Amino acid sequence: MASQLTPDQIAVLERHARDAAQNSYSPYSHFRVGAAVLLHPDERQPGAIVAGTNVENASYRLTCCAEQAAIAAAVTQYGPAIRIRAVAVVNLNGAACMPCGACRQTLLEFAGPDTAVFYPAADGHSVSTTLADLLPAGFRLGST
Ligand code: THU
Repeated sequence: MASQLTPDQIAVLERHARDAAQNSYSPYSHFRVGAAVLLHPDERQPGAIVAGTNVENASYRLTCCAEQAAIAAAVTQYGPAIRIRAVAVVNLNGAACMPCGACRQTLLEFAGPDTAVFYPAADGHSVSTTLADLLPAGFRLGST
Protein backbone atom coordinates (compact mmCIF):
# COMPACT_ATOMS: atom_id res chain seq x y z
CA MET A 1 0.00 0.00 0.00
CA ALA A 2 1.28 3.48 -0.86
CA SER A 3 2.46 5.37 2.21
CA GLN A 4 1.80 8.81 0.71
CA LEU A 5 5.29 9.79 1.80
CA THR A 6 7.64 11.03 -0.87
CA PRO A 7 10.91 9.16 -1.45
CA ASP A 8 12.68 12.14 0.14
CA GLN A 9 10.51 11.95 3.27
CA ILE A 10 11.17 8.22 3.55
CA ALA A 11 14.89 8.78 3.13
CA VAL A 12 14.89 11.43 5.88
CA LEU A 13 12.97 9.15 8.23
CA GLU A 14 15.39 6.30 7.58
CA ARG A 15 18.36 8.60 8.07
CA HIS A 16 17.08 9.58 11.51
CA ALA A 17 16.69 5.90 12.35
CA ARG A 18 20.19 5.13 11.12
CA ASP A 19 21.68 8.01 13.10
CA ALA A 20 19.97 6.72 16.24
CA ALA A 21 21.30 3.21 15.61
CA GLN A 22 24.83 4.62 15.90
CA ASN A 23 24.09 5.03 19.61
CA SER A 24 22.75 1.50 20.08
CA TYR A 25 23.59 -0.10 23.41
CA SER A 26 23.72 -3.73 22.32
CA PRO A 27 26.70 -5.44 23.97
CA TYR A 28 24.86 -8.78 24.08
CA SER A 29 23.33 -9.19 20.63
CA HIS A 30 25.54 -6.70 18.78
CA PHE A 31 22.42 -6.02 16.73
CA ARG A 32 22.30 -2.25 16.32
CA VAL A 33 18.78 -1.07 15.63
CA GLY A 34 17.35 2.40 15.08
CA ALA A 35 13.76 3.48 14.69
CA ALA A 36 12.24 6.82 13.79
CA VAL A 37 8.60 7.81 14.05
CA LEU A 38 7.04 10.54 11.93
CA LEU A 39 4.21 12.18 13.85
CA HIS A 40 0.98 13.54 12.48
CA PRO A 41 1.01 17.32 12.93
CA ASP A 42 -0.80 18.61 16.00
CA GLU A 43 -0.83 21.78 18.09
CA ARG A 44 2.55 20.92 19.62
CA GLN A 45 4.55 20.04 16.51
CA PRO A 46 4.25 20.29 12.72
CA GLY A 47 5.06 16.67 11.91
CA ALA A 48 8.14 15.94 13.97
CA ILE A 49 10.47 12.98 13.62
CA VAL A 50 11.65 11.33 16.84
CA ALA A 51 14.16 8.49 16.91
CA GLY A 52 15.26 5.81 19.33
CA THR A 53 17.69 2.94 19.54
CA ASN A 54 17.76 -0.40 21.31
CA VAL A 55 19.05 -0.44 24.87
CA GLU A 56 19.95 -3.89 26.13
CA ASN A 57 20.31 -5.16 29.68
CA ALA A 58 22.30 -7.94 31.33
CA SER A 59 18.93 -9.32 32.35
CA TYR A 60 18.07 -9.89 28.70
CA ARG A 61 14.31 -9.60 29.04
CA LEU A 62 14.61 -5.97 30.16
CA THR A 63 15.95 -4.92 26.77
CA CYS A 64 14.19 -1.95 25.22
CA CYS A 65 13.67 -2.16 21.46
CA ALA A 66 14.43 0.80 19.22
CA GLU A 67 10.77 1.30 18.32
CA GLN A 68 9.76 1.42 21.97
CA ALA A 69 12.58 3.87 22.73
CA ALA A 70 11.43 6.12 19.87
CA ILE A 71 7.83 6.07 21.07
CA ALA A 72 8.82 6.80 24.66
CA ALA A 73 10.94 9.72 23.47
CA ALA A 74 8.12 11.05 21.28
CA VAL A 75 5.63 10.97 24.16
CA THR A 76 8.21 12.56 26.43
CA GLN A 77 8.83 15.38 23.95
CA TYR A 78 5.36 15.99 22.55
CA GLY A 79 2.91 14.56 25.03
CA PRO A 80 0.35 11.77 25.24
CA ALA A 81 -1.75 12.90 22.26
CA ILE A 82 0.85 12.05 19.61
CA ARG A 83 -0.24 9.99 16.63
CA ILE A 84 2.25 8.15 14.47
CA ARG A 85 2.01 8.60 10.71
CA ALA A 86 4.95 6.40 9.75
CA VAL A 87 7.82 4.50 11.31
CA ALA A 88 11.15 3.41 9.88
CA VAL A 89 13.23 0.63 11.38
CA VAL A 90 16.81 0.06 10.30
CA ASN A 91 19.84 -1.81 11.57
CA LEU A 92 23.56 -1.44 11.05
CA ASN A 93 24.07 -5.18 10.65
CA GLY A 94 22.81 -5.46 7.08
CA ALA A 95 20.05 -7.80 8.19
CA ALA A 96 16.35 -8.05 7.55
CA CYS A 97 14.53 -6.49 10.48
CA MET A 98 10.79 -6.26 11.00
CA PRO A 99 9.36 -4.82 14.20
CA CYS A 100 8.95 -7.57 16.77
CA GLY A 101 5.51 -8.50 18.08
CA ALA A 102 5.84 -6.41 21.21
CA CYS A 103 6.82 -3.37 19.14
CA ARG A 104 3.86 -3.84 16.82
CA GLN A 105 1.55 -3.74 19.82
CA THR A 106 3.40 -0.71 21.21
CA LEU A 107 3.02 1.07 17.87
CA LEU A 108 -0.69 0.28 17.78
CA GLU A 109 -1.19 2.35 20.91
CA PHE A 110 -0.25 5.51 18.98
CA ALA A 111 -0.91 4.53 15.38
CA GLY A 112 -3.68 3.38 13.10
CA PRO A 113 -4.08 0.53 10.65
CA ASP A 114 -2.80 2.69 7.78
CA THR A 115 0.36 3.78 9.57
CA ALA A 116 3.25 3.08 7.22
CA VAL A 117 6.07 0.83 8.42
CA PHE A 118 9.39 0.79 6.57
CA TYR A 119 11.88 -1.96 7.33
CA PRO A 120 14.80 -3.62 5.56
CA ALA A 121 14.07 -6.84 3.71
CA ALA A 122 16.58 -9.69 3.44
CA ASP A 123 18.09 -8.18 0.29
CA GLY A 124 18.73 -4.91 2.15
CA HIS A 125 16.08 -2.92 0.34
CA SER A 126 13.56 -0.93 2.31
CA VAL A 127 10.09 -2.46 2.25
CA SER A 128 6.87 -0.61 3.00
CA THR A 129 3.87 -2.12 4.69
CA THR A 130 1.18 -1.03 7.12
CA LEU A 131 0.60 -1.68 10.77
CA ALA A 132 -2.64 -3.48 9.87
CA ASP A 133 -0.62 -5.93 7.76
CA LEU A 134 1.87 -6.54 10.57
CA LEU A 135 -0.67 -6.71 13.38
CA PRO A 136 -4.15 -7.48 12.03
CA ALA A 137 -5.65 -8.38 15.41
CA GLY A 138 -3.82 -6.28 17.97
CA PHE A 139 -5.06 -6.05 21.52
CA ARG A 140 -7.26 -3.13 22.47
CA LEU A 141 -8.64 -2.71 25.94
CA GLY A 142 -12.34 -3.44 25.90
CA SER A 143 -12.31 -4.95 22.40
CA THR A 144 -13.86 -8.37 21.86
N1 THU B 1 15.24 -5.20 18.48
C1 THU B 1 14.70 -3.97 18.27
O1 THU B 1 15.27 -2.95 18.68
N2 THU B 1 13.52 -3.89 17.61
C2 THU B 1 12.82 -4.95 17.13
O2 THU B 1 11.73 -4.80 16.61
C3 THU B 1 13.42 -6.30 17.21
C4 THU B 1 14.63 -6.44 18.05
C5 THU B 1 16.50 -5.30 19.24
C6 THU B 1 16.33 -5.88 20.62
C7 THU B 1 17.72 -6.45 20.87
O3 THU B 1 18.53 -5.44 21.45
C8 THU B 1 18.25 -6.78 19.50
O4 THU B 1 17.39 -6.14 18.56
C9 THU B 1 18.27 -8.26 19.20
O5 THU B 1 17.05 -8.84 19.41
